[in-house]
Amino acid sequence: ALERTLSIIKPDAVAKNVIGEIYTRFEKAGLKIVASKMKHLSRKEAEGFYAVHRERPFFNALVEFMISGPVVIQALEGENAVLTHRDLMGATDPKKAEKGTIRADFADSIDANAVHGSDSLDNAAVEIAYFFASTELCPR
Ligand code: CMP
Repeated sequence: ALERTLSIIKPDAVAKNVIGEIYTRFEKAGLKIVASKMKHLSRKEAEGFYAVHRERPFFNALVEFMISGPVVIQALEGENAVLTHRDLMGATDPKKAEKGTIRADFADSIDANAVHGSDSLDNAAVEIAYFFASTELCPR
């Protein structure tokens, strides 16, 4: 089915200057960028976005990392976008990520892991709405 998912290029990948290479992978996989912005998240924005992880031991490190520099946030649209995007990213831990995935190629650690992607269609809707007003989505 035609789906949308939320994607974030994290501070480590922005610092490595690979925004375009990552966008190319999305486009080559048939995902359309229907909304896009660069942003330096505030602590409150990062904490709110990752609220489901609040009780996890890695929460503080995750928030610190996500506010360490600008990120690029996009809504992607395409057939099975949630799973297609997760396949492109590879496993959360780059040491476990399959060859040729974004994390295998660009991530350094489970914290600095280059990209975020929604893990379900329900979460995708919540995450897209967290960063984009409906008027900022440009399907075509
Ligand atoms: P992300 O998809 O952005 O969602 C939560 C992030 O927490 C995850 O990617 C990782 O970068 C980070 N993280 C750090 N440690 C862990 C862990 N043990 N399990 C899952 N995520 C972790």
